[in-house]
Amino acid sequence: ASTTEVDVSAIQPGQAIKAVFRKQPLFVRRLTPAEVQAANATPVGALRDPQTLAERTEEGHEDMLVTMGVCTHLGCVPLGAAEGEVKGEFGGYFCPCHGSHYDTAGRIRKGPAPTNLEVPEYTFTSDTTIQVG
Ligand code: FES
Repeated sequence: ASTTEVDVSAIQPGQAIKAVFRKQPLFVRRLTPAEVQAANATPVGALRDPQTLAERTEEGHEDMLVTMGVCTHLGCVPLGAAEGEVKGEFGGYFCPCHGSHYDTAGRIRKGPAPTNLEVPEYTFTSDTTIQVG
């Protein structure tokens, strides 16, 4: 299986980049403190796919959200990773195909998608680099 290295040093809080992992889009987003707070303030039990932000990020790097850029409904690429794109009602990502809204932890909050955006296996190999896969 192939791995992908991503340099995250240039990603400012509130910004995301798109990369490619195993031929599929990958989103890497540095959350702002407010986005972290919003994710942590959400009651997990009320979620369709209950997961905390901490469960979806690496320890010590809770502000770095690494997800596949593939809607879990029918596989469209959600909006929100590129500058100026709409992020949906929950401030994370929005899939325009059938209207799935993901929050700042990439969790499904509204619309037909059954599960959260997938978090691939990844690890920080330095403070500025992650290895995915
Ligand atoms: Fe994203 Fe249907 S593919 S909402």
